[in-house]
Amino acid sequence: SPAPLTDPFARPITYLRVSVTDRCDFRCVYCMSEHMTFLPKKELLTLEELDRMCSAFIALGVEKLRITGGEPLVRRGIMSFFDAMSRHLDSGALRELTLTTNGSQLERFAGDLAAAGVRRVNISLDTLDEAKFAEITRWGRLSQVLRGIDAAQKAGLRVKINTVALRGVNEDDLPRLTEWCASRDMDLTWIEVMPMGDIGNEDRLGQYWALDDLRRKYEAAYTVTDLAERTGGPAHYVRLEETGQKIGFITPLTHNFCESCNRVRLTCVGELFMCLGQEDRADLRGPLRNHPDSDAPLRAAIRAAIARKPKGHDFDYSRQRLDGQMSRHMSHTGG
Ligand code: GTP
Ligand code: 5AD
Ligand code: SF4
Repeated sequence: SPAPLTDPFARPITYLRVSVTDRCDFRCVYCMSEHMTFLPKKELLTLEELDRMCSAFIALGVEKLRITGGEPLVRRGIMSFFDAMSRHLDSGALRELTLTTNGSQLERFAGDLAAAGVRRVNISLDTLDEAKFAEITRWGRLSQVLRGIDAAQKAGLRVKINTVALRGVNEDDLPRLTEWCASRDMDLTWIEVMPMGDIGNEDRLGQYWALDDLRRKYEAAYTVTDLAERTGGPAHYVRLEETGQKIGFITPLTHNFCESCNRVRLTCVGELFMCLGQEDRADLRGPLRNHPDSDAPLRAAIRAAIARKPKGHDFDYSRQRLDGQMSRHMSHTGG
């Protein structure tokens, strides 16, 4: 088999995040504008092209595939893509097939996802307060997501809740979210809000909440033990001894984890972002579409892209200026 993908800093690239649509049924304030212009459908990789693309990465040693969006479950026909990918689980080439979702469509899809070999899902949820949920997501309904979470658990999927930490917005949700997750045997991961998208229009600088402070809140209420285990993603986990649950911290700003980066991101139009926090990207759709009968040019393009993966991002709120920060919306690369 071919040499595995390794970047210039000797990091093995084994984790591919694939955004299958730029659309979403919510408009989370830190992720999208209220009025987004979406890509014309013809620009999108077809489901067959997505299959060929992912299979090429898997042939090059990718072991973990996370499907994202936008909201991945609003892409028409997406279940046939999951079904197609499950052959790589069966062959043993893929260790994990999973997704990050806002949960809105899980009531409908949870059973099918489990049948396709998905074992766990990460579900974004920033608050259990209905009014606040509606403010953050602009268009979302909390009850629909809660039904989705129920459905996922009933289908036997392990659920991790992702919460973006927003100072002055969901600070006081910490105890309730934590207890609720504990009562349902779900892990909870907090994410530092990253300076992407409409940071000039939103009060993002004011909402930035360093997770060190949040950790201290846990330490005041619980016995907190650091865990060495990793899930292959960027989270650092602790255990709360009183509840037994795991709490994750994703801290791109306060504790840069780029050193152990193992992932790249494919957008729904076939651009490969080598880093979430950089603008550099490689076009893989051209090599794919221009060579329907051979994957060799595609594989060469993938290798060339990985060969210029940067050392890390330069996210920074401390500069206190918005120029030079990223105007690309998070929904473009799926987080
Ligand atoms: P698991 O460890 O398998 O649960 O996956 P994960 O934590 O990588 O996946 P998830 O989609 O839940 O990621 C949560 C969030 O972490 C993402 O949406 C991003 O906001 C952030 N994140 C993931 N990878 C990176 C990265 O390489 N750089 C930065 N800055 N943020 C990342
Ligand atoms: N900063 C941090 N996390 C973000 N997400 C979306 N936008 C941002 C941002 N600006 C999160 C979502 C979801 C994941 C895919 O990324 O809440 O959990
Ligand atoms: Fe949609 Fe997720 Fe972005 Fe919210 S964070 S708008 S749910 S893609």
